[in-house]
Amino acid sequence: MADYREIISAYKEVPGGIIEAYHAVQKEYSYIPEDAVVYAAQVFDIPEAKAYGVATFYSYLKVGPRGKNVIRICESAPCHIAGADKVVAALEKELGIKMGETTPDGKFTLEFAECVGQCQATPVITINSQPYGDVTADKIAAILTEYK
Ligand code: FES
Repeated sequence: MADYREIISAYKEVPGGIIEAYHAVQKEYSYIPEDAVVYAAQVFDIPEAKAYGVATFYSYLKVGPRGKNVIRICESAPCHIAGADKVVAALEKELGIKMGETTPDGKFTLEFAECVGQCQATPVITINSQPYGDVTADKIAAILTEYK
């Protein structure tokens, strides 16, 4: 799945690009993650409230709710090199959803994040801002049981 940040950035110079960007994000994710709205506000240099306004004005656009527990995977270079993609794969498998999605029971959302300042313990994930370092695919199930 393409990162919503890449999708949105691609429309930066397009007149009225935010709507097209939302469309493209929704096509990829089947909804617009709330964080994508926040990101769009930055890219198009408008207040977040306005970015929400645009996203919720059109009935065919749907801003997705986030789960009770938001799991973010750092994908900045050090974590990426340390194998963040394996952690992503393990999380997707364990939860049965893809990055950017929320589990049907509303318990978990998977999102990418930039460096969270824990580079001494790559790869890093955070769950509701609590960081977990040196994460490997086989630690995922145990970490998640704390939140189930
Ligand atoms: S690069 Fe992942 S925590 Fe810094």
